Amino acid sequence: AETTRIAVTPGDGVGPEVVEEALRCLEVLRTKHNLALEWTRFPWPSHTWHQKHGESMPDDALDQLRHYDAILLGALGDPGPLDDPDRYLLSDSVSLAPLLEMRKGFDQWVCERPARLLPGARQYLADERAKDIDMLVIRENSEGEYVSQGGRLRKGTEDEVATQMEVFTRRATDRIIRYGFEQARARAAERVKEGRTRSFRSLDGNRDTQAFESQVCLVTKRNALRYWGDMYTEAFEEIRKEYADVAIHHELVDAACMKFVQNPWAFDVVVASNLQGDILTDLAAVLSGGMGVAPSCNLNPSDTGMPSMFEPTHGSAPDIAGQGLADPTAMLFTTARMLQWLGRKDPVMAAAGKELFSTVAADLKENAGKQRRTREIGEAICQQIAG
Ligand code: IPM
Ligand code: MN
Repeated sequence: AETTRIAVTPGDGVGPEVVEEALRCLEVLRTKHNLALEWTRFPWPSHTWHQKHGESMPDDALDQLRHYDAILLGALGDPGPLDDPDRYLLSDSVSLAPLLEMRKGFDQWVCERPARLLPGARQYLADERAKDIDMLVIRENSEGEYVSQGGRLRKGTEDEVATQMEVFTRRATDRIIRYGFEQARARAAERVKEGRTRSFRSLDGNRDTQAFESQVCLVTKRNALRYWGDMYTEAFEEIRKEYADVAIHHELVDAACMKFVQNPWAFDVVVASNLQGDILTDLAAVLSGGMGVAPSCNLNPSDTGMPSMFEPTHGSAPDIAGQGLADPTAMLFTTARMLQWLGRKDPVMAAAGKELFSTVAADLKENAGKQRRTREIGEAICQQIAG
């Protein structure tokens, strides 16, 4: 098989520490399964690079990354000391967070953030049913509130006006909703294979009679943000006709926040806009054990040959950086997902991804509540895989 090449961008703060553990595990998997896999580390984007060069990554960064099969990213966003006049991300030389540049540059239009409360993960909700939390939030990742259009008029005066435009296209709306339905089906099939079943009601005519194996919940704020809310809803109604086997649901984003806390176990797949998805996924991460375990991926499912990017949901956590305290679990789950993604046409790679996932899950269960260092967790998992 052709060699799969991964660009590794450890980033800032705890990023390099958790990435190191991911690479150790990858090395063990590579040897064990004889995977045709290699990786290259990049010192950017990062705060350190920004301090040296006045920009968070070189001008040709995207061109350098374009030909890799995937990007594995640690964490970004350490803004540096408060008194640094060049405070990264706030300085004028950085127009968009580098993360956003990459999502945009490689048209990674899906952000998948699963939230499943695995045994051993910290349970923030007291309710017993919390252990049934198993949802996948799909965040539209290419447009919406993140188009970065607008500006500041009469800047710095009392009469200043800031505008920030939101742009929603029917094309991007259709593809993300369709992706949501496809994932709902795939998850139901996966559950059946594992002997797990779930039961959902649908918002349409069959509400009280029929039970469904899967569900897609569309989140909008269409009572206030009418134009895109109505377009999203119409697209949803149209596309759901092709998925009679999937229950549908609709929530306004504020109510969705409430229900994520009140009965998150009732959700399956959730489709949300870029910003609303961003906010919902921090909440969903906490429901499934916190930032220490929450994986994330930015996917370009269109066959364009551009790399998808895999990063944990957590940030750079500068307060604990450099001390070997960060939990690498989220990074390892993210790495497992990357292998599964890369393994779409390569069963050995896909199996390696599954193996990493189940090893990390078993480790989480076995060591529930223990305080362990970054290295200790990574080492335990490497040993398990090595057998
Ligand atoms: C995330 C982050 C980013 C986002 C930031 C760093 C720009 O919060 O990946 O969720 O808003 O998308
Ligand atoms: Mn976020």
